[in-house]
Amino acid sequence: MTAPGTSRALAGKTALITGGGSGIGLAIARAFSAEGARLVLLDTDLPAAEAAAQSLGKAIAIQGNVTQRADVARACDAALEKFGSLDIVLANAGVSQNQPTLDVTDADWQRVMDINCTGVFLTAQEAGRRMIDQGGGVILMMASMYGLVAAPGRLGYCVSKAGVVMMAKALAVEWAAHGVRVNAIAPGYVDTPFLQDLFDRGRLDPAKLKGRTPIGRLISPEEVARAAVFLARDESDGVTGHVLSVDGGWTAYGYI
Ligand SMILES: NC(=O)c1ccc[n+]([C@@H]2O[C@H](COP(=O)([O-])OP(=O)(O)OC[C@H]3O[C@@H](n4cnc5c(N)ncnc54)[C@H](O)[C@@H]3O)[C@@H](O)[C@H]2O)c1
Repeated sequence: MTAPGTSRALAGKTALITGGGSGIGLAIARAFSAEGARLVLLDTDLPAAEAAAQSLGKAIAIQGNVTQRADVARACDAALEKFGSLDIVLANAGVSQNQPTLDVTDADWQRVMDINCTGVFLTAQEAGRRMIDQGGGVILMMASMYGLVAAPGRLGYCVSKAGVVMMAKALAVEWAAHGVRVNAIAPGYVDTPFLQDLFDRGRLDPAKLKGRTPIGRLISPEEVARAAVFLARDESDGVTGHVLSVDGGWTAYGYI
């Protein structure tokens, strides 16, 4: 795997990143930009997306919600209008849900499924339609190790991320003939505002998490970004329908 920024392998390509204003999405935006990509950052948090776009250079920020088809379509069209192509899309926007299942309301369940699952579907479908017209592209989906293994008190999150894993596989086989590759990334515990929020609310204990991770630490957003760059580059042309774990060995670990 070549280090990001050393090859400019994404020069001339345009990437749309949902949830690009913070955390993992922002780290991947930086890594794609270092590779020469132009960026469209779609986020509900416009100031965050604008600050990110300004710091990156060839990038625009769009306020929108991935649960709204019109917002996603607008972001895809902005890539085409402003930069002339839509080559890579990262369906990254997502929220956590960490509560005992008996306390989950209909609204709680609907929210996590809407953002984490339907949002990825809408993003993939709107981008995929344009990529197929264009002759190909790369779709990346942010799953989680909790789409592969389960944790108590995280039913909606686990189910939504398992849905993302299967969406990547199902679309990979459906769109391969159109030159569209679809892969998912399944991070472990990544040091982001998303995770800090769970630490702050006492929902998770950082020491326990590090102790459970074979590499003995949290994953950095930059480590996830390096995996995304690999999957976005042409060097991974033969890779589609794959779920790349970046979890420090968490899901491989089966001891006490
Ligand atoms: N942090 C982790 O440990 C971890 C681990 C595995 C997977 N993930 C996944 O990675 C993705 C990014 O997480 P993060 O840790 O960077 O979170 P984050 O909270 O730091 O960033 C998420 C971004 O998405 C935006 N967003 C939220 N809902 C949105 C919506 N409906 N439409 C558009 N934008 C929206 C937020 O405004 C924010 O900028 C999520 O899908 C999450 O499930 C995170």
